[in-house]
Amino acid sequence: MAQNPQAKYRTDYKEPSHTITDIALTFDLHDTATTVSAVSQVKQMGQTTTLTLDGEGLELKALQVNGADWQDYTLLEAGLEIRSLPAECELTIVTLINPEANSALEGLYKSGGAFCTQCEAEGFRRITYYLDRPDVLAKYTTTVIADQAQYPFLLSNGNKIAEGSSDNGRHWVKWQDPHPKPAYLFALVAGDFDVLRDQYITQSGRHVALEIFVDKGNLDRANHAMVSLINAMKWDEERFDLEYDLDIYMVVAVDFFNMGAMENKGLNVFNSKYVLANEQTATDTDYLGIEAVIGHEYFHNWTGNRVTCRDWFQLSLKEGLTVFRDQEFSSDLGSRAVNRINNVRIIRGPQFAEDASPMSHPIRPDQVIEMNNFYTLTVYEKGSEVIRMMHTLLGEQGFQKGMKLYFERHDGTAATCEDFVGAMEDASGVDLKQFRLWYSQSGTPELTVSSEYDATAQTYTLTVEQVTEPTQDQKEKQPLHIPFDVELYAKNGRVIPLQCNGERVGHVLDVKQAKQTFVFENVQEQPIPSLLREFSAPVKLNYQYSDDELTFLMVHASNEFARWDAGQMLLAKYIRANVERVQNGDNVTLPESVVDAFRGVLLSDELEPAFVAEMLSLPSHNELSGWYKRVDVDAIANVLKALKVILATEMQDEFSATYHVLKQDEYSIEHAAIGRRALRNTCLAYLAFTEQGNTLAEAQYQQANNMTDTMAAMAAANSAGLMCRETLMADYSAKWKHDGLVMDKWFALQGCNPADNALDVIKATMSHEAFSMKNPNRIRSLIGSFLNMNPVRFHAKSGEGYRFAGEILREMNSSNPQVASRLIDPLLKFRRYDEERQALIKAELEGLKAMDNLARDLYEKVTKALEQ
Ligand code: TRP
Ligand code: ZN
Repeated sequence: MAQNPQAKYRTDYKEPSHTITDIALTFDLHDTATTVSAVSQVKQMGQTTTLTLDGEGLELKALQVNGADWQDYTLLEAGLEIRSLPAECELTIVTLINPEANSALEGLYKSGGAFCTQCEAEGFRRITYYLDRPDVLAKYTTTVIADQAQYPFLLSNGNKIAEGSSDNGRHWVKWQDPHPKPAYLFALVAGDFDVLRDQYITQSGRHVALEIFVDKGNLDRANHAMVSLINAMKWDEERFDLEYDLDIYMVVAVDFFNMGAMENKGLNVFNSKYVLANEQTATDTDYLGIEAVIGHEYFHNWTGNRVTCRDWFQLSLKEGLTVFRDQEFSSDLGSRAVNRINNVRIIRGPQFAEDASPMSHPIRPDQVIEMNNFYTLTVYEKGSEVIRMMHTLLGEQGFQKGMKLYFERHDGTAATCEDFVGAMEDASGVDLKQFRLWYSQSGTPELTVSSEYDATAQTYTLTVEQVTEPTQDQKEKQPLHIPFDVELYAKNGRVIPLQCNGERVGHVLDVKQAKQTFVFENVQEQPIPSLLREFSAPVKLNYQYSDDELTFLMVHASNEFARWDAGQMLLAKYIRANVERVQNGDNVTLPESVVDAFRGVLLSDELEPAFVAEMLSLPSHNELSGWYKRVDVDAIANVLKALKVILATEMQDEFSATYHVLKQDEYSIEHAAIGRRALRNTCLAYLAFTEQGNTLAEAQYQQANNMTDTMAAMAAANSAGLMCRETLMADYSAKWKHDGLVMDKWFALQGCNPADNALDVIKATMSHEAFSMKNPNRIRSLIGSFLNMNPVRFHAKSGEGYRFAGEILREMNSSNPQVASRLIDPLLKFRRYDEERQALIKAELEGLKAMDNLARDLYEKVTKALEQ
């Protein structure tokens, strides 16, 4: 490496010296040598006549200004400096690129037989020299030329305005996008596909052609994506009054993709995982994932494309807001409680872990070396929680007024997070001054609450203290504005109205100070408090609940989320206690009363099955690990397993009965049917740990008429190490070995196989015909699940798991650094393990650091982790 990669700082933002108002691109597509000609209308904005363009891995073929060759330029390490430009001019740049050699999957690359692009965040600079920054918005006209037989479909953003063919077997299509956009929203696709077509008529009567492009033969897997797209378009009109703005909306599914999907204007490119599904190939979770991601990318059309980001530090402006919108979409269409529970699990598990890691950063980061490293749970998921808190503070009406004002002010421009908060504040009159700290402060606030009931005065006092521990990126922390949603219950389950200083108050308290007291009056009996209802802020909560209070809340809390949360807190108490017991060499125990509380949930006939399934799910190993400064991997795993065995044994009859009652003969993707399958398969997951396990799992696998039940049987066999595991795995592989996407589920089970020899099997699996180190989905399924979902084997004392991770990362550092950089996360947290493990992991990080071609993606994370 010539020089260590340098960080960029948020506060160094400068307006661009020039802008580009229009660009005409021509792609002459060839596998190993594609010529890109870019004709830009350039306008000087500042004082300088020097224009510095971004560019990486390009071969410059021609440079002209106003049609004449231009000599006054210098090629830089990652760009092109052009000097003495007229204030307005036409700039022509011709570059040569090699899409086939592009294994990083950024810029123009080949996915299977098709050409496609990925330009967010900074991939456009691998296509041509350009002002590759989101505050330069241009109108694009794109001509794509390719072999007609091999690439019958030539796609780009906007509307098709012309096409033709030449006699050498090549043809061309010209596209025009009327909406000015930053380069990261550019897209091009060329290939041979099957197309699913439909139509949507917007509320104002615009006819929109909908087209979903899939690999030949996959048409029967595109339906759910189309239904989801139409639902999303309708929902955005109804809930946000936002309508689509072009005559065509295209979605292309590709097999090689670094992330989930990309919102390119009018031409979304999707990881095929988030498009392709039928009942034989996809689980209910896959179906819900498709709905969410199709919605997410569609919602970006307004929150991301019409209003984009001024600079990449503002990423949460579009991502936090769009995640909030996709969560609301899924909640309005399905179960709000189940959606909330799953979102909260992500925050409390991996997001809290990120906050506590060397990569901790605010939702609006202050410094970045490689932007791709900041597409994080913090920016996306915590970012969405920050939007949700504003929604809580303003209410739906106030929030929608804020959205209207935001679009009035910023439509067609590149905006900042401050612009968004400003619009919310001005439209609602709610003071968000202190609230803004959520954008600049990293880490997880911890709320410690205590209560006191005064029977004579009939007052109930809640004292709330907030502390945010220092994080690696930021030592000093200030008190935040935390919306704290509470309810008080009388013994009979009645909600006690909240009254302070003689007046009725709402149930969302404004916690703003380090320590704050709330006195409620007219409380006639000792109440039971329900705290942080709906997880009204992304914080940790400490309150000394008794078992009786928690079992009370599990039944009487007025909303489902609070009931689930009470169940989780009850489990948490016994998990903590049992981890200590195991560390002292004692057995895992669970009082009968706790088992009975969960038995009551299972037997309740008022609760929705989908919700009961969530109530009965234990917190994950990852989430539990976050509770400890020093993680005892094996003790936590032992406790989780032992608790499953205890619950399974104690409730065997009830699990068995429910399992048989919930059998469905016909498959349907309705939410109620999904819920029944979820609960039935939760029962199976427990029953796997009883003597019926093997028979049940094997029978379910044989009889399943859908992938959800097939996978549940295999997952049960895998996690309980049942005898039938090998037969089922072999049968599945024989059936699906030709289909990588379907095999991903099988690879993921190999990755999280708890058996002693798991790593040997994983290494052997890397030569499976469906596996490829070039495909990010395969890598994430097999290797990602080993690193993230197989704590006991990955953290084996021998260090073999760490050495394996090191080898893989060194290989991927060259082939696909973006995916490598996501894979490395579990290694960054090495300081949380015992000394021996720390030394082993550290050795792998040092090995990476010593590489002379270490990519900036890994460089940023490895150096941060080793710092201190
Ligand atoms: N903007 C995309 C989304 O949130 C994320 C994304 C897709 C992405 N592909 C990427 C981000 C590649 C960085 C690099 O929907
Ligand atoms: Zn997004």
